[in-house]
Amino acid sequence: MKTLRVLTGITTSGTPHLGNYVGAIRPTVRASRLAHVDSFYFLADYHALIKVGEPARVQRSTLEIAATWLACGLDPEKVTFYRQSDIPEIPELTWLLTCVTGKGLLNRAHAYKASVDKNNAAGLEPDDGVTAGLFMYPVLMAADILMFNAHKVPVGRDQVQHIEMARDMASSFNHLYGEHFTLPEAEIEAHVATLPGLDGRKMSKSYDNTIPLFVPRDQLRKLIMGIVTDSRAPGEPKDTEGSALFQIYQAFASAEETASLAKSYADGIAWGDAKQLLFERLDQEIAPMRAVYDELMNDPARIERTLRAGAEKARATSRPFTDRLRHAVGLRALDSQGGDTPLAKTGKTAAPVFKQYREADGQFRFKLLDAKGTLLLQSTGFASPREAAQAIARLRQEGTAALADLRSRLEMQAEIGSVANALAHFRDED
Ligand code: TRP
Repeated sequence: MKTLRVLTGITTSGTPHLGNYVGAIRPTVRASRLAHVDSFYFLADYHALIKVGEPARVQRSTLEIAATWLACGLDPEKVTFYRQSDIPEIPELTWLLTCVTGKGLLNRAHAYKASVDKNNAAGLEPDDGVTAGLFMYPVLMAADILMFNAHKVPVGRDQVQHIEMARDMASSFNHLYGEHFTLPEAEIEAHVATLPGLDGRKMSKSYDNTIPLFVPRDQLRKLIMGIVTDSRAPGEPKDTEGSALFQIYQAFASAEETASLAKSYADGIAWGDAKQLLFERLDQEIAPMRAVYDELMNDPARIERTLRAGAEKARATSRPFTDRLRHAVGLRALDSQGGDTPLAKTGKTAAPVFKQYREADGQFRFKLLDAKGTLLLQSTGFASPREAAQAIARLRQEGTAALADLRSRLEMQAEIGSVANALAHFRDED
């Protein structure tokens, strides 16, 4: 039985390069063949619109990435392979999640914060040039993940925060409307080496140092001949450490082949010969896939059919699930019955609260409850309501930083992590 649902998306904003292949495509295709996993792979073309303003580029990249994954062995019969924009339920879920997502949560997203920091540093308005699309990016991504109730989401380190946010949104929704969503977990491929690029820095589009995966053979050779090396002459021993050429070779070769190249380095192989060796080794793995890729690129209609079929498969899940979610939030036929969770009935949102009250001894106290009503903090007695309110204000503004000063006035009733989470909520709000 397939138990584990794995899902990941690829933004259609570029051309796949060797780094993408080694870091994401190859391991993912391998993992998709495991019997116990139910894999979902999709082309995140709605996400592409956030960064790319060129329609032709979005289309071209979607074609290239789809052709790449298929050429690299992804089996659309075995996995669910689809294009995000073929699933109208995704933007619908995006809205449902938008309505349970704190704006403060999105304020904290790294990508958004980086834009604001840059603007501040340049003396511009904080939101200068920031679209609402960029701001909402994490919600769209959460919809991608939660729609199919994925357990595991393989992503790069830079995406981990987005998965955590998806968990937050899922919990808020579940809390308010009942248990509909699985809480997803990020899966970081820690041992996958990042590949160096032509200039020795990490291979990345933003450094303009990539080797596209499927360039023609002669162009691949030319690019490889351009990899930086030091100036050691033929016959001089060479260092494998810090050699981009060596690292790329290692990502493709067997352990024996790699050991043999290391020996050649020590023996003083000429850089030109080492590059030729790398080229042949790369081409050996890539050439058969390249042939399939070229064939697919010449037949876009075939890829289109594959993606449409994938969307049908995906929508067999997303359509009924969306019906259920619509019902849960109250978008329902007027003659249908409710069956709401107690919280949804009262319309209370899932938020922690401070409660202030006066005891029989005449003293004023407060407590902090989490969204579920669990007691987190209990204050001692204050002489006046004003003093109690001041302590609350400090907790709201300073969060856990205020705890030390207020130590003598508070009793912790839960783990610090829960208290910190609840207090963070107020800081977003204020
Ligand atoms: N944001 C991801 C990236 O840039 C792409 C993506 C979109 C994604 N939706 C997703 C990844 C859902 C995993 C799950 O890499």
